[in-house]
Amino acid sequence: DTRTVALIVGSVSQPSLNRRLADALEVLAPQAGLELVDVPIDELPFFGAHMEKPEDYPEAGRGFKRAVDDADGLLIVTPEYNRSIPGVLKNAIDWASRPQGENSFAGRPTAVIGTSPGDISTAVAQNHLKAILTSQGAHVLGDPEAYISYEKGLIDDDGQVTDASTREFLSEFLVSFRALIDSTA
Ligand code: FNR
Repeated sequence: DTRTVALIVGSVSQPSLNRRLADALEVLAPQAGLELVDVPIDELPFFGAHMEKPEDYPEAGRGFKRAVDDADGLLIVTPEYNRSIPGVLKNAIDWASRPQGENSFAGRPTAVIGTSPGDISTAVAQNHLKAILTSQGAHVLGDPEAYISYEKGLIDDDGQVTDASTREFLSEFLVSFRALIDSTA
């Protein structure tokens, strides 16, 4: 049986290395019994507390939360900007956490991964992200950690990982996430 996972890519850049990593994960996911469903964040307005009022709550926010809530798990693929997460991703997280009493993270199995050209990749950003998610009650996958240093050609235009050890690692990461989802079900 397949579990569905809401997939958020924390970059609106075009092209995006993290979009590329997400494409590779989408290709590998079925072997781990997962189906990744893209949840775009680029249509979300900047969150403001006045938008929480039911009469002012924008449809974009509702649709976004529904997509996260309907899935069995949440996977966030994050870039690192200035040693933290990009603002566009933080905005989406703030949307998911609200309105008060309707926190989409509570009890949700959640995994974090990301890539950058740097030697320590997105380690610092992921550390921030995991702290945010834990504070919102998400069940965050702690092991394995997945800091993918991007080298040119690592993932081709069809989402195929060209390096065998990286491909195996990403598959193991997805299998571990599937186990977390099963254990929280
Ligand atoms: C970066 N980049 C970057 N890389 C990193 O490893 N640590 C960092 O702190 C930063 N900071 C940073 C800030 C800003 C404003 C930009 C635009 C870039 C480089 C970054 O990893 C690279 O641009 C990736 O391609 C970003 O991921 P996407 O958007 O391609 O998925």
